[in-house]
Amino acid sequence: MPRPDVITGADMLTETAYAKINLALHVRGRRADGYHSLESLFVFAADGDLLRAEPAQKLSLTIEGPFAHGLESGADNLVLRAANALRERAGIANGARLVLDKRLPVASGIGGGSADAAATLRVLVHLWALSIEEVDLIDIALSLGSDVPACLGSRTQWVGGRGEQLRDMQLEGLGRMPMLLVNPRIPLSTGPVFARWDGVDRGPLEPSDLAALIEQGRNDLEPAAIMLAPVIADVLAELRAQPGAQLVRMSGSGATCFALFADKAARDRARAAIAAAQPAWWTMATEISER
Ligand code: C5P
Repeated sequence: MPRPDVITGADMLTETAYAKINLALHVRGRRADGYHSLESLFVFAADGDLLRAEPAQKLSLTIEGPFAHGLESGADNLVLRAANALRERAGIANGARLVLDKRLPVASGIGGGSADAAATLRVLVHLWALSIEEVDLIDIALSLGSDVPACLGSRTQWVGGRGEQLRDMQLEGLGRMPMLLVNPRIPLSTGPVFARWDGVDRGPLEPSDLAALIEQGRNDLEPAAIMLAPVIADVLAELRAQPGAQLVRMSGSGATCFALFADKAARDRARAAIAAAQPAWWTMATEISER
């Protein structure tokens, strides 16, 4: 069972659905089941969506927050799908009142929906006092989406396979590194981006340190995502132009891009400059979580 991150109030639990960032994403091949085999370094931001849960007779979901308009709260929502999958596996019919504060842009390559699903599993295991094996939880997580197993622990991890091979990994100097996220407010679905990958295996991801990650790491989905949303090239160029930006790349299937900085002042200056130049873009100043 992953370490919970639950703030306990009077009968209410709150869990953060940490934003997931792929510091590198190498696509190695197409699989017979329609998915792609990947090698990726996942890190998690210190910030994300917030999920509150309290006991109730029935299962319900309310969505609020700046990106609530981009999501339906019906049975298809990953939060409710996660809750239902957990109930089914545990053989229970417990209820819960769930409130999702949607702070991350939807369909943006930073795992919003996957992190929400993982946070739901974490919070409901506690609310319902379930004892469930970690392998079962990972199995439920994978049934909800390829990124959900990694989001369960929300730790820095090397991720392989379709998303189910997880290995904790620490790179010297990465912990608490200031990070800027920028999204041009163009939603991108994951499937169509993968479908435009050119099929060329450009090699494995084996970063020994941050310098190697910067030099040898790639996001193989960048060209495909730029085909669908050319503005991503502008986001990358803006980030690369910022003084102090050490690593600039797209996360996941886009359109969110990130930059890592050695210090917070440089990150905050970059955020202010980009917000002034491109006021319509979404920006978030955060840092890599040390969990
Ligand atoms: O697993 P998830 O539902 O998040 O994936 C969404 C879509 O992204 C899949 O239907 C598939 O088209 C693509 N995908 C992929 N290979 C992966 C993960 C996702 O092709 N490893």
